[in-house]
Amino acid sequence: MNRFALSRDAIKRLDGWSTGAQALVLLDSAHKLGWTRFLVRPRRLAAIVRFTALPQDRVQNVLEALAALGVVELNGDEARLSAPFAEMMTPDGFAMLSEKLAQARLTARLLSKVVESNGAPVLSGDDSLTIARGVTFQPAQVGRDLFRETLESLPEYTAAVRRGRVLDVGCGVASGLLTTAAIFPEIRGLGLELVPAVAAEAVRRAKAQGVDDRVEIRAIDARDFDETAAYDACFWAQPFFSDHARLPTLQAIHRALAPGGVLLEQELESEPEDPAGQAAFAMRRMVFRAQSVPFAPSAECLAAEAASAGFTLVRIASTNLGRMVVLQR
Ligand SMILES: C[S@@+](CC[C@H](N)C(=O)[O-])C[C@H]1O[C@@H](n2cnc3c(N)ncnc32)[C@H](O)[C@@H]1O
Repeated sequence: MNRFALSRDAIKRLDGWSTGAQALVLLDSAHKLGWTRFLVRPRRLAAIVRFTALPQDRVQNVLEALAALGVVELNGDEARLSAPFAEMMTPDGFAMLSEKLAQARLTARLLSKVVESNGAPVLSGDDSLTIARGVTFQPAQVGRDLFRETLESLPEYTAAVRRGRVLDVGCGVASGLLTTAAIFPEIRGLGLELVPAVAAEAVRRAKAQGVDDRVEIRAIDARDFDETAAYDACFWAQPFFSDHARLPTLQAIHRALAPGGVLLEQELESEPEDPAGQAAFAMRRMVFRAQSVPFAPSAECLAAEAASAGFTLVRIASTNLGRMVVLQR
């Protein structure tokens, strides 16, 4: 390549990344100022001008940019959120736009911390809460339907859950546990969560779902959990556990499960084939590894790791949420 072609190649890549970053900033600003909430319903241009207190031509330009990004639909002099983004504004949908935007902002901050400093990026309680909210789904109808389908591919785990005592280790804001409790009204659950601010949000969500009489959340390091033979089924949110916590956590789960109890783990993801997917994967891996969290171990690695704590592999199942490892105590 000649020197002009070299520069052109770099500029093309930069422009591509820049467009994504600009789209995020635009949507984030519009969301913070309430445009997204306002545009859940179709609105006349005059009403949007009144709402935003901006000149009409400025409003028009913003709407056209949001429409080009697929966030807004324009119809004559009316504008409204497109169906996918309107869905992200409903509290009983799968995921919330505000939580995804907060996660994107935090990830960008963590990326620069990894490059700029030596140690692991320090996460505040609020940061951990942003991550726990951002990676999960809402414990409502859409998530429940999806989860029911997942359970159909996991008969051994489902049978263990039906026996009634369910443990969720690294429960985050407890979407998995709250959804399980909603699907099986006969079960009782306990969620273990390291970060008190995240555990407090899980407690709040359990109350909001009306299952706090059956679902307990404990703010505790899973390694210190010392109940024995008290649970039938356990889900371990392994993707978020650091190297040094993994074996002691698996040993605590092994103690806590009754003989024959079932442990379920999810394989986070595997390296994509396409270059854009690989770039995103490498950046996520960089952030995880800076926190000493092994990134995306395969289902086979997870099975071998659990075997070292005394578990037996039942099978690796393909589900609508990717590959899951089913293990037995
Ligand atoms: C993000 S959640 C997983 C999502 C969750 N399964 C759901 O359904 O919403 C994973 C959680 O594991 C917690 N965690 C990490 N290490 C832990 C440990 N040693 N003990 C307890 N919780 C831990 C993190 O604080 C994080 O909130």
